[in-house]
Amino acid sequence: MNNRLGCVLAILLAITCNISVNGEDPYLFHEWKVTYGTLSPLGVPQKIILINGQFPGPRINGTSNNNVVVNVFNQLDEPLLFTWSGIQQRKNSWQEGTLGNNCPIPPGTNFTYRFQVKDQIGSYYYYPTTSMHRAAGGFGGISVLSRALIPVPFETPEADHMVLVGDWYTKSHTELKRLLDSGRALGRPQGIVINGKSGKGDGKDEPMFTVTPGKTYRFRICNVGLKDSINVRMQGHTLKLVEIEGSHTVQNVYESLDIHLGQCFSVLVTANQEPKDYFLVASTRFTKDSHVATATIRYANGKGPASPELPKAPEGWAWSLNQFRSFRWNLTASAARPNPQGSYHYGQINITRTIKLVTSAGQVDGKLRYALNGVSHVDPTTPIKLAEYYGAGDKVFKYDLIKDEYEPSPGQAGQDKITLAPNVVNATYRNFVEIVIENHGKSVQSWHLSGHSFFAVGIEPGRWTPERRRNYNLLDAVSRNTIQVYPKSFAVIMTTFDNAGLWNLRSNSLERNYLGHQLYFSVLSPNKSIKDEYNMPDNDLLCGIVKDMPKPTPYKAN
Ligand SMILES: *[C@@H]1O[C@H](CO)[C@@H](O)[C@H](O)[C@H]1NC(C)=O
Ligand SMILES: *[C@@H]1O[C@H](CO)[C@@H](O)[C@H](O)[C@H]1NC(C)=O
Ligand SMILES: *[C@@H]1O[C@H](CO)[C@@H](O)[C@H](O)[C@H]1NC(C)=O
Ligand SMILES: *[C@@H]1O[C@H](CO)[C@@H](O)[C@H](O)[C@H]1NC(C)=O
Ligand SMILES: *[C@@H]1O[C@H](CO)[C@@H](O)[C@H](O)[C@H]1NC(C)=O
Ligand SMILES: *[C@@H]1O[C@H](CO)[C@@H](O)[C@H](O)[C@H]1NC(C)=O
Repeated sequence: MNNRLGCVLAILLAITCNISVNGEDPYLFHEWKVTYGTLSPLGVPQKIILINGQFPGPRINGTSNNNVVVNVFNQLDEPLLFTWSGIQQRKNSWQEGTLGNNCPIPPGTNFTYRFQVKDQIGSYYYYPTTSMHRAAGGFGGISVLSRALIPVPFETPEADHMVLVGDWYTKSHTELKRLLDSGRALGRPQGIVINGKSGKGDGKDEPMFTVTPGKTYRFRICNVGLKDSINVRMQGHTLKLVEIEGSHTVQNVYESLDIHLGQCFSVLVTANQEPKDYFLVASTRFTKDSHVATATIRYANGKGPASPELPKAPEGWAWSLNQFRSFRWNLTASAARPNPQGSYHYGQINITRTIKLVTSAGQVDGKLRYALNGVSHVDPTTPIKLAEYYGAGDKVFKYDLIKDEYEPSPGQAGQDKITLAPNVVNATYRNFVEIVIENHGKSVQSWHLSGHSFFAVGIEPGRWTPERRRNYNLLDAVSRNTIQVYPKSFAVIMTTFDNAGLWNLRSNSLERNYLGHQLYFSVLSPNKSIKDEYNMPDNDLLCGIVKDMPKPTPYKAN
């Protein structure tokens, strides 16, 4: 208690104060039973992954510095892992829950994740990373609120709802996996679900949300789908954007928002229309077959059903790119800065390294694969992080198979040779880097970096050259964790690798991710001190070659 009071005083006196992990920060305990159940999100019964009987799973509602404990009981018949996408896991990539970081939880056993949510006020989601489990559910929302005393740039809303939207397949996750394993593509999804449901929009659907006239509501909308970008809008209402993936934004008002795979946006909606029902509408973007789903928003004591006339989605890429460019970080909002190392004035920091990643697709042994600079990632049976920690990295993977520069053969985009291997890039602790992602393909991509927020400084058509730096937003780009890359375009992000650990850069498309569109940045602190990175937790699961190896010397205490 004294410690916290001291920190509050320190904040008031405007001196810095680091609240370290300690027993005094509150704990949120969750116990999850993960099972299969039968539900019909698109009207067809199918096998769904439930958490405590729920789909989507329970929301994790944190406040800055809360300690989150999730005891996961895997009651599926397959190994399982969860990742907390967007939660930065400072010094703690042990909790990442990807196959590069952790051994999966065997069926019939339980495993406890322990992590602390820091000053990352915002909206995120968790999902299973094993197999094709995400296609069957197992996902849920995560929200992190600011501590009391830290001002938030808008009034406390009447209610705060999670809206998890995504495309949906009626095939089971095992059938989808079989398709990819046999070298084929997933094909098109069969529809869209909103919080696990798809309204018929015939006026008979149960309302998903009820609102009181005159009140303002926060909706945290995340695209948890597998393949498609989604446009979200609300009949008769505008959306005031207030937060993107942990950053308070300039509060522009939009008719609709394009939300690409893995992205989360908070909007405020005021119930200021004639009291009746309205549809929240989600539809796929940039696809020939347009899927649409609705959820009913009901005004309390309202009269009458929603109009069957749905607001139209925007068309084309330019609209989407312009919308991206309109997103700005609110530099005056006195909220926590997501980047603790002071890279707030990121435009003035010298770039120490430029990593240009060219994405490609191709065939390896007659099977579809996706690659970054010619390497298509495969997860080794010993997780990369464990192999590194045990000093056995060289038996499991090679650092830097890819180069920072890569030029595909002219006219041959996608035809270059693809190597299957664990894709691990050695990154220097505390380097400020520029990462360019070039998409030479015909469909939109979406990428996530774990362990860090980054500044999404630009998306431009064409190929990247150093001259393109002139167009970067070096002032108020949003600090976030995902970025889309339009076809025949590139995107640029900047970040400081100030979080020691092993971090995944991954495609948010499940198909691409499963078939190799990901890599790991290994950020090792040369000091081997728990000031920089925690030791492997005692309960960590061991597998592969480290299973019977002696435990390495722990990191130093200082
Ligand atoms: C499994 O759950 C039990 C009961 O809650 C708990 O005591 C134990 O620590 C858990 N085991 C692991 C490995 O998390
Ligand atoms: C930014 O945040 C400040 C402080 O809360 C607020 O007063 C201001 O309206 C916000 N600016 C914009 C453009 O949204
Ligand atoms: C999470 O917090 C929001 C906002 O305070 C609240 O509306 C919601 O009921 C909470 N959900 C859970 C599962 O605690
Ligand atoms: C950045 O690089 C420029 C030119 O090399 C140099 O003059 C300047 O001192 C550097 N700035 C910092 C903050 O290191
Ligand atoms: C990673 O890069 C650093 C800095 O260039 C170097 O000192 C280190 O030896 C490299 N580590 C590996 C495992 O290649
Ligand atoms: C390693 O520790 C020393 C002494 O505590 C410190 O001066 C140095 O900055 C540390 N290096 C890194 C890369 O953290």
